[in-house]
Amino acid sequence: MKQVFGVFGDPVGHSLSPAMHNAAFSALGMDCIYHAFRVRPEKLEKAILGAEAMGFGGLNLTVPLKEKALKLDFIKPDPLAKRIGAVNTIVFGKDGEIQGYNTDGLGARQALLDASVEIMGSRMVIAGAGGAARAVAFQLAADGADITVINRTEERAVELAKEISAAALPGKIRGTGLSGLKDLLRDADVLINTTTLGMYPNTDTAIATAEELHSGLTIFDIVYNPLETRLLREAKAAGAKTISGVLMLVYQGAEAFRLWTGVEPSVELMKKTVLEALQV
Ligand code: ATR
Repeated sequence: MKQVFGVFGDPVGHSLSPAMHNAAFSALGMDCIYHAFRVRPEKLEKAILGAEAMGFGGLNLTVPLKEKALKLDFIKPDPLAKRIGAVNTIVFGKDGEIQGYNTDGLGARQALLDASVEIMGSRMVIAGAGGAARAVAFQLAADGADITVINRTEERAVELAKEISAAALPGKIRGTGLSGLKDLLRDADVLINTTTLGMYPNTDTAIATAEELHSGLTIFDIVYNPLETRLLREAKAAGAKTISGVLMLVYQGAEAFRLWTGVEPSVELMKKTVLEALQV
C-alpha cells in the first residue's frame, strides 16, 4: 500500500513540495505519495494525530502552522527547532514518538556551501527578522558566522540578536535598523534577504541597489517567486555572486526527505522539478 506524506498549511494550494517530493519518490521507485492538505490552525492538533493514526510517513508544516506546532505538547522538538521557535518537518518515530524539526536553516546553509561560501567567520548581513530570518540566523550562528541582522523594525532585529547571543553559539551577532545597510555592506561578505521585498506581486522592490553592493559580495535572496528577483538583478549589475532561493527550498525539502526515510533523494531532480513548476 502506498505510504502517504504531506504538507499542512493554509493557504497551501501553491506549494511546490508535492511536485518536488513526488519526483524524488518516483525516481527512487518508492511506493509513496506526497499531497498538500489545507489545515486551519485550530485543527492542527487533530490533523497531526490523525496523520499519525493513519500511518503517514511524515509531514511538512508551512504558514501559519510552524510556530503553533511547537506549542503542542505531544510533539518532541529537536534543540534547533526549539530555539528557532518553529517546526517545518514532523517525523513519526517507530515507538510512537512524534518529533519536530526545522530544516529551513539547514537548507540555507547548504545553499551557501554550494556556492563555496565559507561560513565560519564570514561577515553576513541578514535582512529581515521574521520567521525565515530566525531559522537562517540560528543556523549560521551555530556555524560560526559573524552576523548583523538588519530590519525595518529595529527592535525585532535587536531582540533576535539578543536571543541568539543568549544561546551562546560559536558565531557573533548583533541587530540594527535598515539605515546602516549601506555602510555594513561595504565590509560584508554575504547579504541574505529574508524580507518579503521583491516577492510576487511586489517584484520591483529590493533591499539594496547595485550602487550599494560590490563584486566581493555573495547575495542570497531566499525569495524564489519570481526566480530572478530585483535584488539578484541588482547583484549581477554590481558583479556580485548570486544564490537563488530555489536552492534553500530544495535543500530544506531534501533534509526532510532524509529525516523521514533515511534515503538520499536526488536534489538535482528536485531542483529541476521546482524550476519547471515555477516557469509555467
Ligand atoms: P517570514 O516569517 O516569512 O520571515 P515575516 O515574519 O512576516 O515573514 O517577516 C517579514 C520580514 O520582511 C520582516 O523582517 C519585515 O520587516 P518588519 O519586521 O519591519 O515588518 C520585512 N519586510 C516586509 N516588508 C518590508 C518592506 N516594505 N521593507 C522592509 N522590510 C520589509
